[in-house]
Amino acid sequence: MCPIIEYSDAIHRAQVMALWQVAFGYEDAHNAPDLVIDKKLAMDDGLFFVAMAEGAVAGTIMAGYDGHRGWLYSVAVHPAQRKQGLGGALVRHAENALIRRGCLKINLQIRGGNERVAAFYESLGFVIEPRVSMGKRIGQNIQAALPPW
Ligand SMILES: CC(C)(COP(=O)(O)OP(=O)(O)OC[C@H]1O[C@@H](n2cnc3c(N)ncnc32)[C@H](O)[C@@H]1OP(=O)(O)O)[C@@H](O)C(=O)NCCC(=O)NCCS
Repeated sequence: MCPIIEYSDAIHRAQVMALWQVAFGYEDAHNAPDLVIDKKLAMDDGLFFVAMAEGAVAGTIMAGYDGHRGWLYSVAVHPAQRKQGLGGALVRHAENALIRRGCLKINLQIRGGNERVAAFYESLGFVIEPRVSMGKRIGQNIQAALPPW
């Protein structure tokens, strides 16, 4: 099985960015991979993991814990390595890290148009809950985080 280890910026950044481009594509400035990685590293919470296959990044997962809920983000496996259990292993790895921190419930969001992936999470024990997800972009922080050009 592919080892799952903590993200190391000096080693993994370029490969993670390439994987996210393939797995997600990005349209929103606040989701630019460089910015997402910088912001996560600033938290210094040890909740950003990569799965390695033959020395290269094959998958990623980020978790967050705010003392109330745990969250999962950026769950991605390289297309060539999918359907071999790696996605499930990444989710369980992040789940265990959250459990060790005392987390009582883990949430995640699925973007509109990607609903089919719910079957993946259901196979890992997650259930669809009746919630309306809302969000608010903080324009001045997004602006400040963008490169000046
Ligand atoms: C979702 C993703 C991480 C799954 O990775 P994976 O390594 O293929 O997952 P696993 O091999 O552990 O699959 C676990 C189960 O979920 C199923 N599954 C995986 N991806 C699925 C999908 N997109 N739709 C439906 N079922 C899926 C698998 O068939 C498997 O079930 P099985 O064991 O009964 O066959 C991968 O498809 C991916 O990177 N997708 C693009 C990014 C994405 O959508 N991420 C989720 C954002 S919310």
